[in-house]
Amino acid sequence: MNAREQAHNEGPVSRADNPSGPQLAVPPVTPPPGPQPPAHGAAGRSHKHESARAQVAGAATYVDDIAEVRGTLHAAPILSTVAHGRLRGVDTRAALAMPGVREVILAGDVPGDPLLATFVHDEPVFASSTVEHIGQVIGLVIAGSVMQARRAARRVLLDIDELPAILQVRDALKAENYVLPPVFVKRGDAAQALKSAPHTLSGQLEVGGQEHFYLEGQVAYVLPQEQNQWLVYSSTQHPGEVQHWVSHALGISNHAVRVECRRMGGGFGGKETQAGHLAVWAAIAANKLKCPVKLRLDRDDDFMVTGKRHPFAYDYSVGFDNSGRLHGLKLVMLANCGFSADLSGPVADRAIFHTDNAYFLEDVEIASYRCKTNTQSHTAFRGFGGPQGVVLIESILGDIARHLGLDPLDVRKHNLYGIDDRNVTHYQMKVEDNILAPLLSKLEQTSQYRRRREAISAWNAGSPVIKRGIAITPVKFGISFTATLFNQAGALVHVYTDGSVQVNHGGTEMGQGLNTKVAQIVADELGVAFEDVLATASDTSKIPNASATAASAGTDLNARAAQYAARNVRDNLAQFVSGLDNCGAGAVSFAGGKISSPKGSRPFPEVVRLAYANRIQLWSDGFYRTPKIHYDKTTLTGRPFYYFAYGAACTEVAIDTLTGESRVLKVDILHDVGTSINPAIDIGQIEGGFVQGMGWLTTEQLVWNDKGYLSTHAPSTYKIPATGDIPEHFKVDFWPEPNREDNVFGSKAVGEPPFMLAISVLEALKEAVAAARPGEVRLDAPATAENVLRALKA
Ligand code: MTE
Ligand code: MOS
Repeated sequence: MNAREQAHNEGPVSRADNPSGPQLAVPPVTPPPGPQPPAHGAAGRSHKHESARAQVAGAATYVDDIAEVRGTLHAAPILSTVAHGRLRGVDTRAALAMPGVREVILAGDVPGDPLLATFVHDEPVFASSTVEHIGQVIGLVIAGSVMQARRAARRVLLDIDELPAILQVRDALKAENYVLPPVFVKRGDAAQALKSAPHTLSGQLEVGGQEHFYLEGQVAYVLPQEQNQWLVYSSTQHPGEVQHWVSHALGISNHAVRVECRRMGGGFGGKETQAGHLAVWAAIAANKLKCPVKLRLDRDDDFMVTGKRHPFAYDYSVGFDNSGRLHGLKLVMLANCGFSADLSGPVADRAIFHTDNAYFLEDVEIASYRCKTNTQSHTAFRGFGGPQGVVLIESILGDIARHLGLDPLDVRKHNLYGIDDRNVTHYQMKVEDNILAPLLSKLEQTSQYRRRREAISAWNAGSPVIKRGIAITPVKFGISFTATLFNQAGALVHVYTDGSVQVNHGGTEMGQGLNTKVAQIVADELGVAFEDVLATASDTSKIPNASATAASAGTDLNARAAQYAARNVRDNLAQFVSGLDNCGAGAVSFAGGKISSPKGSRPFPEVVRLAYANRIQLWSDGFYRTPKIHYDKTTLTGRPFYYFAYGAACTEVAIDTLTGESRVLKVDILHDVGTSINPAIDIGQIEGGFVQGMGWLTTEQLVWNDKGYLSTHAPSTYKIPATGDIPEHFKVDFWPEPNREDNVFGSKAVGEPPFMLAISVLEALKEAVAAARPGEVRLDAPATAENVLRALKA
């Protein structure tokens, strides 16, 4: 029986039951002291996702499922049809004459700042004098139904004088067209190292962007409340930022705006800032019309309006010796940021931080340009620039190995960070928890890499059309927000008189299982069953100033804050029981749904009821901030990360050299999640991250035409991996060691790091191409059939 059922059977404790308050009669403790009940162990087990049942039954509520309030109107965006131009006029007459249409909202309707409250303050709420990409939002049509609004939005006539647009990142560089100034990082003397290196290679690489393709599109539902207060339901990774942006645009204080998010149908970084736009737009309309307004983007509009993963281009020169060890790297990274800064600064910074991946770069020089183009403003996406750093160095190491006729795994191993020396990153952080060498060796054995590599090479010799390739690539991913201030979190734990527990924290649930893990940690702390703890919607009125749920740090931050909150309640209860049983509070333990002292055990709900009657506080807040981190933003040096998460993947692929088609055949992963709080969820994150990374590097291609129109804006033309693309052999193992840093439950963050394991797919494809013809391999990503054919023909 869980606490809630038990409470139902026994009935609540009312004031009438205990008229004299503290003088409550204490029932005798039953069993004699003996072996403690086994720890309930809510954490460390594969509990299913707290919403799994509701989600498969269609009973889990997303923003668009919330019952609409009477008088709710619907919005649809008016989109720029030109990549760059002067907006001369907006003719709304035809739209206003359409059935059900109430109003058209334009830039002049913004009561507060006409610019969004982004970090760089460079983005208008609604475009007014100039438009900067096709799909930029100029205004909204508001109507009685969503389809009426969408149809009418197409009837708004825009008068735009076209201006020259910059669409290619290299053109932006030439024109010095940037959203933020370039950043230069160097260590040692790359030029000198290159000059004295026995071998050098130089080249270029291009890696495409990626659409988030969350199953639930962007949506906000804004409800005016009394006295100019606002309730916003938003599908957002960052309710606090939505609150801030909405209040900024409405010209009111933060305290007048409450933002709630129970869950998202996926975010993947795409709802870190981009959710704020929708909420602001809907709020401007709701403010003008004084009624609730909902804005839910159609999938095609979502593609056209919102930013994606940053496409990158690179120029590099690298030196190395006969063993493949690096001697100098000079790198120019061009981040295609789109028309505004958004999160491009920190994304491009993280690309710099992850250029080393697992390897010691002794002499290195990186120039990072944050290029402005007339496209959607690119934003956070799983890995947050990390993948764009890692993919480059892995590509280079593969090229070096083929150039020297060595096994790429040997070249990779030879360049790994050391334990006692060669252990400081190019941003001056010491790698203290390095498990790269043993982790790679273990995967090499369990995947039988060497044997398979030989077998593949023999097989390729007899197969003129189909060629196979195999590659192992590691990942080392720094955990923490690089902006140190974001590494803080708060939580509230409420214990009700029936012994049931509610936990609320500043994080958001996007399918990654954060609420499940937080509930497990709280249940463990209080020694109750997982089912007795309910995690509720993120709500800015419960936890203020919460950071985005991002940087994979959701559990590290929020589960720790929740653990501390639960610990406060637990301490109160332990103190209370120590008084009852005449023992030290330290002798009171919590496990198996019971609270025990040397005198014996009582059910948790019973103690809670007694404690309530004795006026003991049964709820608490908790606050956590990540220790040890610091970092100088101007030089990009310091310890930006609390620890690193590690992993490696061994991937085997096949290509058809006539058509360029490819398949991922086998994947073996060894990944480091520390001590897993929930193995099933962690395996899901690893598999999901890998497959999403595989999509980025193989089939997901964003094609902007020469007018800047994104021609791949629906699932018909933009191909994410489908079930049929999942490798037939797909094995995931955990590295068996807790986090060496003091992190919640000994765990490590898992949301983003596995994404980069998919870089083994690209490297295996390059090996397959190399097996087909002699010479260097240049394979840009995504490795679509066309790009594989290009690589084969080059
Ligand atoms: N998993 C699911 N199912 N859905 C998501 O949207 N987002 C990823 C990752 N895993 C995502 C996901 C991203 S980009 C991040 S930063 C982390 O989850 C955020 O959650 P966490 O910090 O709680 O791991
Ligand atoms: Mo994840 S890209 O940090 O939301």
